[in-house]
Amino acid sequence: MSERINFGKLPPLGTVPERMWAQVVRKERYGEPIGAFAMEEVPVPTLEKNEVLVGVMAAGLNHNSVWAARGFPLDLIEYMKLRNGSDLDWHIIGSDCSGIVYAVGSGVTNVKVGDEVVVQPGWVEDEDPWVMRGKPDTAIAPSARAWGFETNHGSYAQFCKVKSRQCLPKPKRLSWEEAAVYMLSGVTSYCMLYKYPPNTVKKGDVVLIWGGSGGLGVTAIQLVLMGGGIPVAVVSNAERAAFCQSLGALTLNRSEFKHWGALTKADVMPETQDRWVKAVRPFEKALKELTGGKMPAIVLEHPGEDTMPTSIRVCNGDGMVVICAGTSGYLATLDLRFLWLRRKRLQGSHFGELDHCREYNDLIANGTLSPVLAHTYAFEEVPLAVQRMADNTHPPGNCAVSIGSAYV
Ligand SMILES: NC(=O)c1ccc[n+]([C@@H]2O[C@H](COP(=O)([O-])OP(=O)(O)OC[C@H]3O[C@@H](n4cnc5c(N)ncnc54)[C@H](OP(=O)(O)O)[C@@H]3O)[C@@H](O)[C@H]2O)c1
Repeated sequence: MSERINFGKLPPLGTVPERMWAQVVRKERYGEPIGAFAMEEVPVPTLEKNEVLVGVMAAGLNHNSVWAARGFPLDLIEYMKLRNGSDLDWHIIGSDCSGIVYAVGSGVTNVKVGDEVVVQPGWVEDEDPWVMRGKPDTAIAPSARAWGFETNHGSYAQFCKVKSRQCLPKPKRLSWEEAAVYMLSGVTSYCMLYKYPPNTVKKGDVVLIWGGSGGLGVTAIQLVLMGGGIPVAVVSNAERAAFCQSLGALTLNRSEFKHWGALTKADVMPETQDRWVKAVRPFEKALKELTGGKMPAIVLEHPGEDTMPTSIRVCNGDGMVVICAGTSGYLATLDLRFLWLRRKRLQGSHFGELDHCREYNDLIANGTLSPVLAHTYAFEEVPLAVQRMADNTHPPGNCAVSIGSAYV
C-alpha cells in the first residue's frame, strides 16, 4: 500500500492506495439527488477470492441512481445490511463503468492487472446454487443483485469492486466515456427485444418505445433497426423527437395527448367505459398514421403506471408488452379484455444474463451497434447529473462521468 492519492488522479498501475475519493450517499442525506451525494474519502475496498478492483476511468449514468439517492422506495443502505450482511453506513452508487484492472483476488483467471474492461452490473455470488446448476444468472438467481444499486461499491468512485464475471473486454475502438454508457441500458433493451421468443423483433415489425430518447430508448431504437423493425419512439418534446429521428425512429410526442395515468373502475363499467376508449383513440390514430396502420408487435414498457393501459390497448394481437420498471409509478392498471381477447403477452424483464452481456458487447465491439454518448459530466457533477435525470431534463442519449479519464 502506498500513500494517499490526490483527488481525481489514479495512481500508477499496480499501486493500490488505501483511500479513494467517491461520490457517497448517506442515509441522513437521502432526498433529491442534488443534496444526497458528497465527495468523501473512503477506504479502497479489499477483495475476496473472485473479485476485481477496477480503477474507474469513466462511469455511466443510470436512472437507478435517482431511486438510490432518494432512499425511496427502498432504503438501500439498510437493505444491503439486511440482505448482503454489509456493515457500511454509506453507498457508492453507479452501475456502469469502464476502467483498468488494478488488483485481482486469488481465484480470478479471466482478467489481470492492466486489462482494460467494461463492467456489466449483473452481480451474483460465486457459489449461488441456482447458477451452479447451470440456471440463468439474472434476477431470478437468489443471490443476484444490481451492482452499484444493491451493492455498496459502485462506479461513482476512483475504484470499484466487482465480481470477476462482471468484467468484459473494453472495445478498443471506443473512448473511456463511450465504453462506460452502454452496458446496463443496452443489455436490458437487448433482452427485452430479443430474448422472449417468439416475441422477438422481426423484419417489418413496429416496436413502440416509451422514453425513446432515454437510456433504454436510444439503445432500443438501434436494436429494432438492427432486426429490420420499425421503431416508434415516444418522447415529450420536439428536441427529443428530432434526436430520435436522427437515430432512425418515427416519433410521437406524448405531450400532445391527455389520457395518461391509471384506469379507474368507471373505465371498465359498461355504461362509462367509452370515456377512456375515446380518450386513447387520438394516440392510436396518430400511431396508425405513422406506421401505415400497423400496430406494435412489441411495446417496450418502463413508465408503468402512466402508460400501461395504453401499451396493452395498442399492442397488436399475439404481440408482447415487455416491462422492466415503473418510472412513473408501480400501480399499473389494465383492462384485461384487451390482453386476453387478442392473446397478448405481458412480460417482466430485468437486465440480462452474462451471455447476453457478451453478445451485446460483441455487437458494440464489431460496430453493429454504437454507444449513444450524449454528454460527459465531471466527477464533481454527479449530483447535478442525477438531479437532471430525476427532473427529466437530462439530454437525449446516455451520459458518462469522467473520473480517471479526466487526467490522462
Ligand atoms: N430492470 C432493469 O433491468 C432496468 C435496466 C435499466 C433501466 N431500468 C429502468 O428503466 C427506466 C428507464 O431507464 P432509462 O435509463 O431509459 O431512463 P432515462 O434515461 O431517465 O429515460 C426515461 C425516459 O422516460 C420517459 N418518461 C418519464 N416519465 C414518463 C411518463 N410518465 N410517461 C412516459 N414516459 C416517461 C422520459 O422521456 P420523455 O419525457 O421524453 O417521454 C425519459 O427520458 C428507469 O426507471 C430505470 O430505472 C430498469
